[in-house]
Amino acid sequence: MANDVSELASIDVNELPRPASLTPRQMLEEREDVNILAPLVRCSKLPFRHLASMYETHITHTPMILAEEFSRSQIARTADFSTSRYERGVYWMRERNRKRRKLEDEDGDSVARDQAYFSDLAARPLPCANQIDATYGRLPATVQSPGEDYVLTRGILLAQFASPNGKALADAVELISTPVADTEGESLRLVDGIDLNCGCPQPWAYASGIGSGLLRKPEIVADMVRAVKDRMGWNYDVSVKIRVDTDLKLTERLVQTAIHAGANHLTIHGRTRHQASTQAVSLPSIKFAVDAAKGEVPCVGNGDIWELEDVRTMRNETGVRGVMAARGLLANPVSSRALFAGYTSTPKHAVENFVKLTMDYSLIYPLFHRHVSYMLEGTMNKYERLYFNSLDSHVAVVDYMRLRRLSL
Ligand SMILES: Cc1cc2nc3c(=O)[nH]c(=O)nc-3n(C[C@H](O)[C@H](O)[C@H](O)COP(=O)(O)O)c2cc1C
Repeated sequence: MANDVSELASIDVNELPRPASLTPRQMLEEREDVNILAPLVRCSKLPFRHLASMYETHITHTPMILAEEFSRSQIARTADFSTSRYERGVYWMRERNRKRRKLEDEDGDSVARDQAYFSDLAARPLPCANQIDATYGRLPATVQSPGEDYVLTRGILLAQFASPNGKALADAVELISTPVADTEGESLRLVDGIDLNCGCPQPWAYASGIGSGLLRKPEIVADMVRAVKDRMGWNYDVSVKIRVDTDLKLTERLVQTAIHAGANHLTIHGRTRHQASTQAVSLPSIKFAVDAAKGEVPCVGNGDIWELEDVRTMRNETGVRGVMAARGLLANPVSSRALFAGYTSTPKHAVENFVKLTMDYSLIYPLFHRHVSYMLEGTMNKYERLYFNSLDSHVAVVDYMRLRRLSL
């Protein structure tokens, strides 16, 4: 395996296979261990999505976008969404093949190989994962495949919308799905599908009939899924993110109605709309929703994913195909193997990469400060935190990080 940047610099990218571009549903069905960055208002913007994608986070989401505003106003479109040709990562992902996997797992080979691969990733700053090749785009974290059943696979970006009705949603989806020409004149697909927010618990959202206001209105959810499919075609990928209900029969109805309307996958956050994020997530409720989907579509589990062990528990106890993290990734974007790449706290190089990405893409100061604050949280004492919170510009934060011997 290549170990330093000088070795990586001499890669002949023509020797790399072209990465497979899958739909979200295909990735969840055909790849093992799919790791996902949650939609995060104000936080899952371009620089942070790009950062998470450098550390084994295969699917990322935009923050929730209000569909009606998005289609009505150019100002809203500019403020709510930006992307880059290079934000999606390229990963060696293990192909899901039960027969071969079973044989290998019996002699323990594949487990040992996975451990070696990911501990190697965790030991290094993944130089390759941020390297861009003029013709190839993003390069994978390691040049060599960890094994014959690993396939080079391109990451996925989903836009999350909140909408009270099908027309507003379809209008917004059509706008965000129209390919544009980039600065080099090449056609750029902005997103790989959309997610419908049926979980936002804010009272204003509930009252406007969006987010968790849809949890007990499965017919409206179904109308919205159908409206997008009617406008964009049956192959267009639509997922639905829900919270569980106190009455699980209502969750079952929502799951089945969304699937029959054509939803391609479901994300299940294992808290009810009344539960704060400080309350523990219910894995049995997630399992109930997964069982209600009857294997008709793949499901993603969400809630309280802080370290790799939580990812394993979520998979084992609920039967989900993908695992989504929100606060765990904010605190440690290397997280789903660094929470997602196997690091227990945010490594220095992740903070450094984030600063570089915010310089490339630009990010307003309050958001920049908030992200760095999340990442450094575990490393600052009370006085350092007070000082850090008093900083008021990008330059002041960068100076502070230099003092802390981060190389920027
Ligand atoms: C700062 C923040 C912003 C969020 N924004 C959204 C959002 O835009 N859309 C959404 O569906 N959920 C949103 N959520 C909820 C998360 O996606 C996730 O469902 C929830 O935090 C549970 O996951 P966790 O326990 O890993 O944090 C947000 C959560 C946080 C902490």
